[in-house]
Amino acid sequence: MEDLGRIAWPPPEPIRTERLVLRESEARDRPTFIELHASPEVHTYLGGPRPRAELEREMPGTPGHRPGSFVVELDGEMIGQLLLRRATTHSRPAAKGKLDLGYLFLPRSWGHGYAAEACEAALDWLTTVFPDEPVILTTQTANKSSMRLAEKLGFTELERFEAWEAEQWLGERLPQGRKSR
Ligand SMILES: CC(C)(COP(=O)(O)OP(=O)(O)OC[C@H]1O[C@@H](n2cnc3c(N)ncnc32)[C@H](O)[C@@H]1OP(=O)(O)O)[C@@H](O)C(=O)NCCC(=O)NCCS
Repeated sequence: MEDLGRIAWPPPEPIRTERLVLRESEARDRPTFIELHASPEVHTYLGGPRPRAELEREMPGTPGHRPGSFVVELDGEMIGQLLLRRATTHSRPAAKGKLDLGYLFLPRSWGHGYAAEACEAALDWLTTVFPDEPVILTTQTANKSSMRLAEKLGFTELERFEAWEAEQWLGERLPQGRKSR
C-alpha cells in the first residue's frame, strides 16, 4: 500500500460534517492511536492487536501523518482513523493500483453512525481529487459491522477470497454516475 502520492495534502481546511471533523493527525492524538492499535475489539477481524508496550515504544511522535490518513474527531477528541491509500501491493489483481478505503474507530464510538458519516465525507473529498476513479475496500465477511458499513457507502462485491485464514470481501464503489457491473 502506498499513500496518495503527489496530491495537495492535507485539504486546505479540515473537512467538517454535521458532527465530525476530519483532519491530519497531530502529536496530541498519540495516546488515542495507541489505544486504537492495542484494542482487541478493534482488531478482532484485523489479525489481533499489538502489545501496548511495543506501541508506546515504537509509535512515532505524530502517528499516521501522511497523505490520505485522516483523524476523525468528535467534540475535539479523536475517535477514529480513516485511511485512503493506493493499493499497490494488494494480492488481488482486481484491486491492484486502485484507491483503497480503510477505517478504525474506538469501540466506545460504535453504533452512532460516525464511521458512515466520516467515510461519506472522505469519499466526497476523494472524488474532488481523483474524479472518475473507483474506490475499493477489503474486509472479512465475518466483520458484520464493517460489511454493513460498506454496503451503506455503496460498495458492491467484486469477489470473496481466502487470506489470513479467513474469508475476505473485496468491494468496489464506482464513481458517481457509473453503473455497477
Ligand atoms: C467497522 C466500524 C467502523 C463500524 O462502526 P459502526 O459504528 O458500526 O458503523 P456506522 O458508523 O455505520 O454506524 C452504524 C450503527 O450506528 C447506528 N446509528 C445510531 N445513530 C445513528 C445515526 N445518527 N446515523 C446513522 N447510524 C446511526 C446504526 O443503527 C448502526 O447500528 P447497527 O450496526 O447496530 O445497525 C467499527 O466496527 C470498527 O472500527 N471496527 C474495527 C475496525 C475494523 O474492523 N475495520 C474494518 C476493516 S477496514
